[in-house]
Amino acid sequence: MEKLNQRIILALDFPAEDELTRCLSALQGELAYVKVGMELFYAAGPRIVQTLKEQGLKVFVDLKVHDIPNTARGAMNSLARLGADMVNVHVAGGRAMMEAAREGLEAGTPAGSARPLLLGVTMLTSTSRQTMNEQLLIPGAVEEVVVQYALQAQAAGLDGVVASPLEVPRIKQAAGSAFLAVTPGIRPQGAARGDQSRVTTPADAFRLGSDFIVVGRAVTAAADPRAAWQAMLDSLAQEEFVKRSGGIR
Ligand code: C5P
Repeated sequence: MEKLNQRIILALDFPAEDELTRCLSALQGELAYVKVGMELFYAAGPRIVQTLKEQGLKVFVDLKVHDIPNTARGAMNSLARLGADMVNVHVAGGRAMMEAAREGLEAGTPAGSARPLLLGVTMLTSTSRQTMNEQLLIPGAVEEVVVQYALQAQAAGLDGVVASPLEVPRIKQAAGSAFLAVTPGIRPQGAARGDQSRVTTPADAFRLGSDFIVVGRAVTAAADPRAAWQAMLDSLAQEEFVKRSGGIR
């Protein structure tokens, strides 16, 4: 069993590299996995992924690709050559696009390296049922659509999905426990929710079956990010399921 800190991904949502550097030095020696999203990737450029890899970190490059199959294939080829460990595409791009994305990743993975994990973005956690029904013209409940999208992603050969922790039990029930669930929307007890609505604590997310949790502002926007990180690990260390498995680090 992997240590729990390998399954906590810190979202590095910064507009520029100097703020990133401040955060990383505050958390020196603590992190195993980080996420580079559009904000930092577009500001700092692809080489930020290599910089983070050189620091021994695993990197989830969260660009949520959604384009024609040929372009998605090329994008994934480039991200695999860059050394990303985890990448994602929108399930709404369709089966052919997801399959092309996977082919691109396989083609771009350097010899001797593992293919990056490929996740499908189901329904963004900011999309309400009303928006989905009335604007995207998709009928039904969000959770139903998320489960169907997870099955589409699995059929296309993806490794898992990004979803709310609250949706994980149904996804695992439908797609099996080996199909990965990576969950943002994490708020330690007492932390501000910000724009996230369906949130859980880190312990609840793992208990619901998340394979990886994505934590951002609860740590990065804290007055003392190292103390916030440590408090989160300390709270997890109390949990029975952590004591029973491989521990935190
Ligand atoms: O700061 P916070 O913990 O809310 O950060 C969550 C991270 O997860 C952000 O980088 C956000 O882009 C990402 N994310 C999300 N909801 C999704 C997909 C990704 O919050 N459905």
